[in-house]
Amino acid sequence: MKPIQVGLLGIGTVGSGTFHVLQRNQEEIRRRAGRGIEIAMVADLDTTRAKQIVGDAAKVVGDAREVIANPEIDVVVELIGGYGIAKALVLEAIAAGKHVVTANKALLAVHGTEIFKAAAEKGVMVAYEAAVAGGIPIIKALREGLTANSIQWVAGIINGTTNFILSEMRDKGLDFDVVLKEAQRLGYAEADPTFDIEGVDAAHKATLMSAIAFGIPVQFDKAYVEGITKLTSTDIKYAEQLGYRIKLLGITKRTDKGVELRVHPSLVPTKRLIANVEGAMNAVVVHGDAVGTTLYYGKGAGSEPTASAVIADLVDIARMDGSDPAHRVPALAFQANTLAAAGNELPVLPMTDVVTSYYLRIRVADEAGVLAKITTLLANAGISIDAVIQREADEVGGEGSNQTDLIILTHDTREGDMDKALAEIQGLPTVLAPITRIRKEELN
Ligand code: HSE
Repeated sequence: MKPIQVGLLGIGTVGSGTFHVLQRNQEEIRRRAGRGIEIAMVADLDTTRAKQIVGDAAKVVGDAREVIANPEIDVVVELIGGYGIAKALVLEAIAAGKHVVTANKALLAVHGTEIFKAAAEKGVMVAYEAAVAGGIPIIKALREGLTANSIQWVAGIINGTTNFILSEMRDKGLDFDVVLKEAQRLGYAEADPTFDIEGVDAAHKATLMSAIAFGIPVQFDKAYVEGITKLTSTDIKYAEQLGYRIKLLGITKRTDKGVELRVHPSLVPTKRLIANVEGAMNAVVVHGDAVGTTLYYGKGAGSEPTASAVIADLVDIARMDGSDPAHRVPALAFQANTLAAAGNELPVLPMTDVVTSYYLRIRVADEAGVLAKITTLLANAGISIDAVIQREADEVGGEGSNQTDLIILTHDTREGDMDKALAEIQGLPTVLAPITRIRKEELN
């Protein structure tokens, strides 16, 4: 059978990894796919660099539209990123009848509904294993391996940059700003790290996992997004003393009222495997009603790990090219005509309706009755306390200090009730600084 012809749009880190892995493993990949997979064209603004990477093996052009216009190309691999030109090119490739492979989580999380609809109308595939957790085959696992299950929740460390920063803050007792600069110097964080540190990148990935876990439309606009910029090494240390690690988690959960979809720092019990995922590694925990809890771990970024996911998609496409679209695995795991109704039955909940437990750190005057006032306000809001610890005033404010930190762990409560109680506690004259609130996930 004729090798499937691939056009790469962008040959940076992931594109060059894709080219090299395909070359290195071409014989094994051909045996698996049942036909060869050939990168026939590469479009990149830096044609000189692109030619250095591919040599004579592929035609290099500066204009991505030349790839899309080439009738010989069966699959377009979009590795440009972002919502701008990448969106136009993906839609044009679909309109030209090409299958698309993309690592672009931002594009699919925001414009997925439009893109998957266009692909369905044209009978082509849009594959995106590389968009979530890099080399970890989590899309395959959720869409196919766990297809028997009613998925209950998914929780993941799905951004390596922030996990690296949090690991360094914990290991070295350093503050966020210091570690961020070091991460940038070492190349772990981008020059503009906003999407990573503010939780946006993780929210894009959580949005995609939410859609395929629960069979609902892609709804990034409804995700709650909070990054790690306000975390202090003090809270990381206190959490550690209480038996928890702080991780930036992407969480999506099925509840009676709807779906929770949120990204924020979370305390996770140190005894959970996922709490021990350190450095730039990624991990995703999925809980299904039949299988129970499963864990997927690996590199969430990088040249060849991400290429591994891109090529897995290319192999799927090579096998399914020309097949009846009705017989393929649906792009979002569930048949497209069922998504909207499921989305109405399972709306994404506002953050005020999310139920979780909390770590609170409250800087207070070290006086009689302060703790009693705070616990009374929590009790009045129906919030049940799991544990309270008071730090030594000397440890917190230095020798002779009359300030201290109260650390309170709560049981599960509605976020809206917690917001109300915290507003009242913050108003007490004996509360001396903005309260720190970090959500806590037991993941059991
Ligand atoms: N910037 C991401 C991370 C990788 O740090 O994990 C690509 O999504």
